[in-house]
Amino acid sequence: MKDSRESYGTLSKSLHWLMAVLIGWQFLKFGDRVADGEHWVGETLVPWHVSIGTLLLALIVLRMIWAFSQRGQRPQHEDPQGRLVKIGHGLLYAAMLLLPVTGILILLGGGYGLNVFGMQLIEKGDKIAWASTIGGIHSTLAWALAALVIGHIGMALFHQHVKGDGTLSRMV
Ligand code: HEM
Ligand code: HEM
Repeated sequence: MKDSRESYGTLSKSLHWLMAVLIGWQFLKFGDRVADGEHWVGETLVPWHVSIGTLLLALIVLRMIWAFSQRGQRPQHEDPQGRLVKIGHGLLYAAMLLLPVTGILILLGGGYGLNVFGMQLIEKGDKIAWASTIGGIHSTLAWALAALVIGHIGMALFHQHVKGDGTLSRMV
């Protein structure tokens, strides 16, 4: 269950891959740019955006607490690029936290309330200007996370298949 210097443990791996799938699902929201979302993806998968996004907020909080508790016993990055790896992973964490936060602020700002898997967590109400302003960076953050994830996948495959240092193996 716990992490070690050699490999990530079951909980870290489960969180990583569950969240990777759910974030992939969230990216389908870009599909609203195609034919105003009037297609199968837009009508079947994208309507879950708010519910899954809020679930991701709970998961990232758990993941950050877990990562903190495991900080001394995870695979280390002692090569010269070690700092870059830490910055890269740090940016992924920041984006994973700020996307749901700004997403919720869009809804609160517009006075729409928050309905998650059929539960009305926050009632509809007045518009809140500051929440809309901060929520306005949601789309920019989504593009930034998409770029980070593409770079991240590229680096994982490069390490595994070109350098052959088993980086991917310790996360699967
Ligand atoms: C990790 C979580 C999330 C990811 C990766 C994500 C990703 C995205 C993406 C890719 C778009 C389309 C942006 C564009 O076409 O420019 C979008 C739009 C949107 N998202 Fe999210 N989202 C997340 C969480 C949330 C949450 C929790 C909510 C609300 C509770 C939310 C509400 C919205 C809304 C209302 C839009 C349409 C407005 C806009 O494009 O600015 N999102 N999101
Ligand atoms: C939404 C997509 C993804 C996000 C946000 C993400 C995020 C992260 C983060 C933050 C870490 C640091 C360890 C941790 O705290 O969990 C990590 C590690 C890792 N990820 Fe991802 N990941 C994603 C998708 C993928 C995919 C598709 C692959 C495979 C091609 C991958 C391969 C890895 C590997 C191999 C590690 C271990 C790196 C190391 O030990 O240095 N990730 N990922």
